[in-house]
Amino acid sequence: MNVTKCEETPWPVIIIILLLSVHGGSSIKWLALGKSNDARVWTREACTAAKSSGLLERKQARACRATTDVMPSIVQAARDTTAVCQQAFRNRRWNCSSIERAPHYTPDLLSGTREQAFVYAMSAAAAVWRLARGCALGNLAACSCATPPRREPPSPSALTSSTSFTSKSVSFDAMSARNSFKWGGCGDDVRSASRLAKRFLQGSSPTGTGSTAKFMHAVNMHNNRAGRRAVEQSLTLECKCHGVSGSCSVRTCWRGLDSKGPSAAGARLFRKYATAAEVRAKSGSRLPPLYHHDNLLYTTKSPDYCIPDKKRGSLGTIGRQCNGSSPGYEGCEYLCCGRGHITKTREILERCQCKYISCCYSVQCKTCRSVITTYECN
Ligand SMILES: *[C@@H]1O[C@H](CO)[C@@H](O)[C@H](O)[C@H]1NC(C)=O
Ligand SMILES: *[C@@H]1O[C@H](CO)[C@@H](O)[C@H](O)[C@H]1NC(C)=O
Repeated sequence: MNVTKCEETPWPVIIIILLLSVHGGSSIKWLALGKSNDARVWTREACTAAKSSGLLERKQARACRATTDVMPSIVQAARDTTAVCQQAFRNRRWNCSSIERAPHYTPDLLSGTREQAFVYAMSAAAAVWRLARGCALGNLAACSCATPPRREPPSPSALTSSTSFTSKSVSFDAMSARNSFKWGGCGDDVRSASRLAKRFLQGSSPTGTGSTAKFMHAVNMHNNRAGRRAVEQSLTLECKCHGVSGSCSVRTCWRGLDSKGPSAAGARLFRKYATAAEVRAKSGSRLPPLYHHDNLLYTTKSPDYCIPDKKRGSLGTIGRQCNGSSPGYEGCEYLCCGRGHITKTREILERCQCKYISCCYSVQCKTCRSVITTYECN
């Protein structure tokens, strides 16, 4: 009888296959641009250098060279993404600390998890927000203020009941009169900003040629788009009154972004994170058609992030601070995964009961002791 000997696959091949299947490529390496504090001048050479050091992909570098003026906004967007993500997840088992490893991500942000979906969407949202701000400030050649919507501004009665209306400088009493409304001011040009962001963000290709890599790429790009749309959805109507001494006989209105930053879009996406849908590659690399544009999609179930697991990108929650009385995510019960916690108390000395001594222009304080209790996961 003939015995066929199994052909051995050489190790390097196995490793490469594993890498391709687990790491479906990462087009968020650009988030590392936010780490350096130097105010880099974005020339075409700087774009090429950023590609050589692995921060930009080939097509992203091309977009960078074509419109170098977008890059300061992109760098800011990278910082926003990290800040919003870490704020949103500060009390969760996965607390977004691994985003700081950019461009060398761990598997939690490479293997198609829910967390990766949030970061892709958030990075796109931050890019659109910063680019729209750049447009309104006149820093970008490709855009300025938004073309006013074709329909009329809402009537006063509609405005009072509208929840998205921010009353910046409008007196509602004055509005009850028949006033004249018109579009004016400088609306945030989110549409152009979104187009610019897309050119940069979608400027990445699947890593590898396998169908898994292609599918992951399609999912990443879907999440990018969900992020861009979240900014469009967080536009609010803003108006300003004109007329003699605040009579508000004429009002100009525009659609504007929250001036505090992309955190409104971030809150929207954080809610989407909770309801993200799992998708599987069936045949080819296309997404099933029924997934709504605004949903976040993931391809791999996340670990519970309870114990350290390098292979899955889990840091574990040992040593994390938790809340001794909260029944929620930040409570010790959940955050410590049932391992229990230790209670630490320490005494601190503070200046307190300060009094202003009017005779001598000075402040006198006492020193008070207080005890601070913290809880740490086992
Ligand atoms: C986030 O989690 C990691 C790993 O558990 C921990 O080392 C880090 O201190 C945490 N960061 C914050 C801000 O809690
Ligand atoms: C802990 O959780 C409780 C209940 O949710 C809350 O009232 C309290 O402010 C939290 N403490 C800290 C330090 O966050």
